Amino acid sequence: MKPLSIFLLSLLFGASSVWAQQKRTNSSPDQKMNAFISSLMSKMTLDEKIGQLNLLTGGEATTGSVVSTDVERKIKSGQVGGMFSFTTPQKIRKAQEIAVKQSRLKIPIIFGQDVIHGYKTTFPIPLALSSTWNMAMIEKTARVAAIEASADGLNWTFSPMVDISRDPRWGRISEGSGEDTYLGSQIARAMVKGYQGDDLSRYNTIMACVKHFALYGAAEAGRDYNTTDMSLDRMYNEYLPPYKAALDAGAGSIMTSFNDINGVPATANKWLMTDLLRKEWGFKGFVVTDYTAVNELIDHGLGDLQKVSALSLNAGVDMDMVGEGFLTTLKKSVAQGKVKQQRIDEACRLILEAKYKLGLFEDPFRYCNEERAKTEILKPEHLQFAREVAAESFVLLKNENHTLPLKKTGTIALIGPLANTGSNMPGTWSVNSDLVNTRSLLEGLQAYVGQDAKILHSLGANLISDAAYQERATMFGRNIPRDNRPEAEVIGEAVALAKTADVVIAALGESSEMSGEASSRTDLEIPDVQKRLLQALLKTGKPLVLVLFTGRPLALKWEDEHVPAILNVWFGGTETANAIPDVLFGAINPSGKLTATFPQNVGQVPLYYAHKNTGRPLAEGKWFTKFRSNYLDVSNDPLYPFGYGLSYTSFTYGHLKLDKTSFKPGETITISIEVKNTGTMTGKEVVQLYIRDLEGSATRPVKELKNFQKISLKPGEAKTVSFKITEDDLKFYNSALKFVAEPGDFNVFVGGNSRDVTTGKFTLIK
Ligand code: BGC
Repeated sequence: MKPLSIFLLSLLFGASSVWAQQKRTNSSPDQKMNAFISSLMSKMTLDEKIGQLNLLTGGEATTGSVVSTDVERKIKSGQVGGMFSFTTPQKIRKAQEIAVKQSRLKIPIIFGQDVIHGYKTTFPIPLALSSTWNMAMIEKTARVAAIEASADGLNWTFSPMVDISRDPRWGRISEGSGEDTYLGSQIARAMVKGYQGDDLSRYNTIMACVKHFALYGAAEAGRDYNTTDMSLDRMYNEYLPPYKAALDAGAGSIMTSFNDINGVPATANKWLMTDLLRKEWGFKGFVVTDYTAVNELIDHGLGDLQKVSALSLNAGVDMDMVGEGFLTTLKKSVAQGKVKQQRIDEACRLILEAKYKLGLFEDPFRYCNEERAKTEILKPEHLQFAREVAAESFVLLKNENHTLPLKKTGTIALIGPLANTGSNMPGTWSVNSDLVNTRSLLEGLQAYVGQDAKILHSLGANLISDAAYQERATMFGRNIPRDNRPEAEVIGEAVALAKTADVVIAALGESSEMSGEASSRTDLEIPDVQKRLLQALLKTGKPLVLVLFTGRPLALKWEDEHVPAILNVWFGGTETANAIPDVLFGAINPSGKLTATFPQNVGQVPLYYAHKNTGRPLAEGKWFTKFRSNYLDVSNDPLYPFGYGLSYTSFTYGHLKLDKTSFKPGETITISIEVKNTGTMTGKEVVQLYIRDLEGSATRPVKELKNFQKISLKPGEAKTVSFKITEDDLKFYNSALKFVAEPGDFNVFVGGNSRDVTTGKFTLIK
């Protein structure tokens, strides 16, 4: 069809009809899309093109002080390309109707939301989810989230968050997959596949938005939104791969980060958005800013709104979230020659392409199916799955003398500020969770034991002794009641209760809002008053299990020394309260493994397993030697290393077998090891493979995860686990940023965590 006839038809029938005409031609899908968009853009005014670059919020959940206003009028006048934080098919249909019936060119709106770890069926926080090391499970959580979100009118999610973080002070470590590049990349891929499936235009798939590009997880001092300054070696080898993995998996969009990167904030960083993202990586989707990130460039010190908007667009940003800097200044910048119209065209085209791929031109109401909203959200099978995922995300940190699993008999005292709060269970960034109806652990436990055991409950302590701090830590309806009586009285009451019980479950740790955005901490311990409660409870001499709620690695040195059993349950989502008893009473054997190192104290941070050796490493087994790289007051060891997590059963590892001791590019080397369940319960084990490049043109980490397998073994059962290593697994970015494997010797390590491993050696020959 000729452009002129497309143009005439579109005048007669509007954009959707042109699409229908286009469908009948025989050109490739890309050609059809391009022709359709070219035709549409030929009719657009500069204002309408700029309008497509504008993303407004519907205000259901906001993370900044600015909230969009006058939205209806803006939609009518073609000034809105996308909306977010606005849900339900009814509301979205209404807004979409205004766009496709009352705006001049009838261009549909894309509707986004922070669907981070599930939608209404909320899964564990991402840090917890990563602790499952179960890629099929993780992908399915994103699939379920896409089904529910799309049933509620949405077609775009601001997820996956793939920021590597090695700093537990940073509250947003809870939103990512931990410290490791390889694991983080696998998870990024799984999430994108789960959200997008293989056809974005399906009614139940949604577009992913990888965030936060880039290096947000390395904010200095763990303080949110803070500066990042990083070498290219570290960027390319450690922090960038998960973003790239998500894009290679087909993610349709990417979000800029708030932070400064080596002197230029990400949102204005042309090297990042154009040289790296477009030219080097070949990304074809669109770039959206984070919430008012363009406006924040003013405070970064880059100029006034007109200047920073032009800077950001010219750097390669396509869509402006909430701040309306693009909407209000770009036309003037074009007139003054500060921005080329061609760059606006490019950005507009990328956003229209995304809408086309989502099928919105064909049917703008594809995701507005009121019937689906009633039947596909919070389905029993979604909830059942969420319960399994939650249980699989828990990490058993300590279990002295088989304190766990518990027996479903006698009297159980459930004590602590996290015991009776349903609203904290979903965890941070769960804006679609039903906080009112989510079960508390107390309710879950009572339902689980029924008449078989007696449950006693007492608050025991406030979350934090400082009331103002507790208020900051329980925002957005995540309440925890306060008891204003003297501390000794509140603790005393709990101790009296504990004395009458057979076993004590202490539900302690952080509230859900103590991690997440703008929730950084400088103290990584369980809050003061809760520790005093724990000490008092231990003094009763009753068997005690610490059920630990946290969104970050905590410093648990004292607890590790004194508490017989510690089950880290993070924030497990909607089904937390049902999943905890599943594990406490042994219906499910815990199999989660940490994806972020737990330090001994905050002073060791950043502490991560894949560190460099230094020229003065401490000899193995030592904890202090003068003139070596160490501290006077604490050893270099973590409290719980990366990859660590116990089971109710035990596993032993046999000898490491290598099918050859040297290999050439193009060949593979097979590493195998026998793993045996030597305990009495069926259990799952994550068998982890690490390597170390022993000599090269650049320094390399002392260990790097390169593969893993999660296996299940019955009591007494043994399995041989095999891994293949190829030259590709040994590649890294050298100082010239070439991705190469250098010949020489390598160590290979296999084990159930990054510390306790069996070691072998091989050589790459070239
Ligand atoms: C967060 C993003 C989020 C956005 C939209 C920001 O404050 O940094 O992760 O996607 O808000 O809600």
